[in-house]
Amino acid sequence: MEEKVMIKENSQTTRCKTEKFLQIISAIIIPLVIAIATIVITVQQNRYNQATRENDLDIAQKQREQDLLIANQTREQDRELNTRQRQQEQNLADQQRQETLLDNYIRDTSQLILSLNFTYTYEIREYIFRPQALAVLRQLDAKRKTNVILFLLESGLLSSGEDPISLVGANLDGLILDIEEDTAFHPYLFDLALSYTSLVNASFNNRQLRYADFRYTQMRGVSFKGTTLLSADFYAANLRNAKFSNANLRGADFSSTDLTGCDLSDKQLYNEILTLDDAILPDGKTLGKAPNIIINGDAELGSISGWNLENRNNITAAKYKNQTNQAYGKWYFQVNGNTTQLNMWQRIDVSSYANMVRYGGIQIVLSMEASPSDSTCKMYVKTFDSHNTELQNEIQVLSKLEVEGDFLYTSGVLPCRRDTKLIDIAIQTFGAKIIDNIHVSLKHSGYSIG
Ligand SMILES: *[C@@H]1O[C@H](CO)[C@@H](O)[C@H](O)[C@H]1NC(C)=O
Ligand SMILES: *[C@@H]1O[C@H](CO)[C@@H](O)[C@H](O)[C@H]1NC(C)=O
Ligand SMILES: *[C@@H]1O[C@H](CO)[C@@H](O)[C@H](O)[C@H]1NC(C)=O
Ligand SMILES: *[C@@H]1O[C@H](CO)[C@@H](O)[C@H](O)[C@H]1NC(C)=O
Ligand SMILES: *[C@@H]1O[C@H](CO)[C@@H](O)[C@H](O)[C@H]1NC(C)=O
Ligand SMILES: *[C@@H]1O[C@H](CO)[C@@H](O)[C@H](O)[C@H]1NC(C)=O
Repeated sequence: MEEKVMIKENSQTTRCKTEKFLQIISAIIIPLVIAIATIVITVQQNRYNQATRENDLDIAQKQREQDLLIANQTREQDRELNTRQRQQEQNLADQQRQETLLDNYIRDTSQLILSLNFTYTYEIREYIFRPQALAVLRQLDAKRKTNVILFLLESGLLSSGEDPISLVGANLDGLILDIEEDTAFHPYLFDLALSYTSLVNASFNNRQLRYADFRYTQMRGVSFKGTTLLSADFYAANLRNAKFSNANLRGADFSSTDLTGCDLSDKQLYNEILTLDDAILPDGKTLGKAPNIIINGDAELGSISGWNLENRNNITAAKYKNQTNQAYGKWYFQVNGNTTQLNMWQRIDVSSYANMVRYGGIQIVLSMEASPSDSTCKMYVKTFDSHNTELQNEIQVLSKLEVEGDFLYTSGVLPCRRDTKLIDIAIQTFGAKIIDNIHVSLKHSGYSIG
């Protein structure tokens, strides 16, 4: 019983101790926890505050940057606007300046023409009209250059028919003289004289440019779509990549031109163009040839047609039996019987070359072949103007001799007078049995244009 109480008392004291201990602990822990919590919260608060501050700072920074950027952009935009405005103003001022220049030029030149009573000496053309025109052209854009060219042509100063002023060296790149296809508008710009000028990328679409003088021009990329270029002269012009679709090129001189990359059709090249002598053809490689103005010079018509003979039996067309050289074709002229001296002749009308010949510097180039190679050949030339007046007395021209196999090749040249309309060619051979490849052509001599 006593023992039981003891135990009870004992357990009571133990509980009491525990409670006290807990009380102490709790008295310490709670403030500690609160203190810790406070510290943690404070630290976190600080951290948060710092983050917020940083964030605020960041936002402020960003805002400032944005403001700066906007300010910068605005400034840039203003500057750009100003620049553009200034450019526009300058452009307008420049346009006005050009317009005034053009107006003054046309007025002054018209007055000059009037005061000179439409008669100009070489000096007036060369030392007044020409420098005036070149000076104004240097200061104008392509559109106004076009106006100057039209004015000069229409006032008769730029007409190839009547001593035009020379615009040598003028930069007329990008000139636009196009008109709409099938327009009722006056398409005629005959006799336009623009030799020795630069006309890169110019366009003359659908114009009528009969007798135009484009010799020695820089005409890369020029456009002649649907243009009529009858008897125009392009001698030594650079026509790389020029466009000629539907252009009429009948009688045009394309000697020594560069036609690389041009869209010329075979019809234009071989039926219309007067001569392609020494021209670089559109493939960029092949050289063109001057056509033979003699009719049936190689007997390939299988007859003596085209030729006059004293006795028609003295010469006949015959077929080669064993000729492997293609250059001689199938037929040759056979000299019959015991004929020791033979005359055959032909009259050639060179009216189609009139425009090319009138500029001067043209040669008559002749050649022929005969067999056996020890025979003698002579060619005689006589020329006449359009009134049938003899310009050139009969002259023997073949001088160069070469032996090629069984054949004797002879050739020679003669200057062609500017007013030549008819050419008489006579051939004389001694001892020849075969005559072939009689060739006569008109070519630029290459060193004179006067
Ligand atoms: C404004 O922008 C330009 C280019 O956009 C830059 O070169 C320049 O430094 C900027 N200026 C400022 C103040 O940001
Ligand atoms: C202009 O030429 C015409 C005819 O040639 C002549 O009658 C006239 O007197 C000339 N006028 C002047 C100002 O020279
Ligand atoms: C001509 O046109 C071509 C092609 O359009 C161009 O590349 C070239 O720069 C132009 N040349 C001139 C001088 O206008
Ligand atoms: C034809 O020409 C060739 C080469 O020129 C020659 O070898 C051949 O014998 C000739 N034939 C006759 C039948 O003359
Ligand atoms: C004809 O030719 C022969 C030799 O081929 C020559 O002896 C004779 O003189 C010539 N006759 C005439 C009229 O030329
Ligand atoms: C043409 O042939 C005849 C004979 O057919 C001859 O009498 C005459 O001399 C020849 N004429 C010439 C120019 O050779």
